[in-house]
Amino acid sequence: MDAVTTDFIHVFQPGTDPSRPPLLLLHGTGGDERDLLPFGRMVAPGASLLSPRGRVLEGAMPRFFRRLAEGVFDEADLTARTHELTDFIEVARRRYELPAPVALGFSNGANIAASLLLLRPEALAGAVLLRAMSPFATPPKAALGGKRVLILSGALDPIIPAGNAARLGRTLEEAGATVEHKTLPTGHGLSQADANLTREWLDA
Ligand code: MLT
Repeated sequence: MDAVTTDFIHVFQPGTDPSRPPLLLLHGTGGDERDLLPFGRMVAPGASLLSPRGRVLEGAMPRFFRRLAEGVFDEADLTARTHELTDFIEVARRRYELPAPVALGFSNGANIAASLLLLRPEALAGAVLLRAMSPFATPPKAALGGKRVLILSGALDPIIPAGNAARLGRTLEEAGATVEHKTLPTGHGLSQADANLTREWLDA
């Protein structure tokens, strides 16, 4: 079912297994709301899928927030977009009668999911961050007690330095989250190992 609840274009696919938390799918730069639907179905069969399209355009490429250069973020825009996305999640949860979702974000989508955890932790039950980096130069203090986070990085990722994802992991852990961070022998793109590890983590 496609519907517009706020001014985020999005897809909502209702689940068949109410024991599974819904997944909030957040695509990478240049993607859209359809990109992660097959991945979401593979890693969480039966879960409801809520998948918005990023509202920032870089040329023709949708993103979830503005950047000044690759890996250099417009933090004021990121902050505003994070609150806007939280509003969308709240409206969508009421409309579709959903509990708090687990975010599943890739690249730019993983970075705004990390920002949601830090700025609006109440929006999410947990998060899977695929090829994420630290969204803020100086991370805000957050209280993430009880939230589980999976970070999957690529050892050969030309966009994200290994130390940067590790720093994000430490930030989230210091805020009280239970973080599992694995580095796969792959690049920026997703691999079968990402799907297998995500599925195992969601099932645990
Ligand atoms: C970002 O801009 O969020 C990261 O550099 C990842 C990307 O989207 O290329």
